[in-house]
Amino acid sequence: MAANIYVTRRIPQAGLDQLHAACGEFDMNPDDRVLSHAALIEAVRGREGVLCLLTDTVDEAVLAAAGPRCRVFANFAVGFDNIDVAAATRRGILVTNTPGVLTETTADLAWALLFAVARRTVEGDRHFRSGHWDGWAPMQFLGHDVYGSTLGVVGAGRIGTAVALRSVGFRTRVLYANPEPNAELDAIGGRRVSLDELLRESDFVTLHVPLDDSTRHLIGAHELALMKPTACLINTARGPIVDEAALVVALRDGQISGAGLDVYENEPAPAPGLTALDNVVCLPHLGSATLATRSRMAVMAADNLIAALHGERPPNVVNPEALDARA
Ligand code: GLV
Repeated sequence: MAANIYVTRRIPQAGLDQLHAACGEFDMNPDDRVLSHAALIEAVRGREGVLCLLTDTVDEAVLAAAGPRCRVFANFAVGFDNIDVAAATRRGILVTNTPGVLTETTADLAWALLFAVARRTVEGDRHFRSGHWDGWAPMQFLGHDVYGSTLGVVGAGRIGTAVALRSVGFRTRVLYANPEPNAELDAIGGRRVSLDELLRESDFVTLHVPLDDSTRHLIGAHELALMKPTACLINTARGPIVDEAALVVALRDGQISGAGLDVYENEPAPAPGLTALDNVVCLPHLGSATLATRSRMAVMAADNLIAALHGERPPNVVNPEALDARA
């Protein structure tokens, strides 16, 4: 099947091979960098299918440029807040994502951040490398125990659940805030509580909700003020869930003890003052970044795109009602 496909940036080879086998030749951004919005509009013009990334803002203008022949925007991510799904649906364009395959990898990273913040490992590494370390000291880099602490999981979907289940070996008490009870978390003694109660009681608060209008700035100055001064916030979900300017103030003023961030409100830029703080560990959006997981995501995105071009319902469609708009 020859189809007019565009890939907005190089993804792992397994996905490109899959596309090639099913669709023959396709075009891809030759540069390993994000396309500007104007370049994205030009690149997708008249395409039948686009494989895009969370760094591509797929808005009305981009969808309009793709035009009436376009069947699908296959996102190489589980989150799809970068895409105007309602606008895509109106145009009969399917949107797909890559759920499931990155759950465990992202849950691992949330714990990596949690430990890094709790035990101040990045600060310690920086100090050691500076050449100023003059040996063991009784009061140096004192952190917080993870073992026996209270873990607050905001959003008990796939990733939140995987994060909470990892806590068993650390004998942490699990609180979770979620619209529905979660049987897996209840089975390990997790307790479903309100967000306010979770924020007041937890030693570590970890965010796992999708970004939408209901979760934008879910954690702002008011919520940070509810947290214990010894507590740490972990965000591996989406940056705008946290009011990052308010977080800088809370970290600077000691309202909370620390934060571990993998995502930012205006990626790739940090909020002013954030990177000057020692009590925050900042990663460059690495949640799903293992070779195996990114390869699985690439194959999954390619499979979604291929199915849509075949006129089939893709395995991971976000807006199946777009099929009706087309019919
Ligand atoms: C990564 O952030 C994703 O949504 O897959």
